[in-house]
Amino acid sequence: MEEAGFPEREAHVAEHSALIEHAKVRLQLFRNGAIGALVMPNFLKAWLIPHMQIMDRKYAAFLRRHGVR
Ligand SMILES: [Fe+2]
Repeated sequence: MEEAGFPEREAHVAEHSALIEHAKVRLQLFRNGAIGALVMPNFLKAWLIPHMQIMDRKYAAFLRRHGVR
C-alpha cells in the first residue's frame, strides 16, 4: 500500500489498527466472561463488511487505475 503510493493509506491502516485494538478488548471481555461468544463474530462482521465495501474497494480501484492487476 505504501509502495503503491495510495493516498488514503494512513486512514486505511488506522482503521485496521483500531480493529485490532477493539478486537483485543472484546477478547479480554470474553475471557473474563463479561460478553458472550457471539459478540466477536458479530463485531467482526459489522466491521469487515463495510470496510471491504468502502475502504478496500477504494484501494482496489486505485490499484487498477495505476495498472496493477
Ligand atoms: Fe483493508
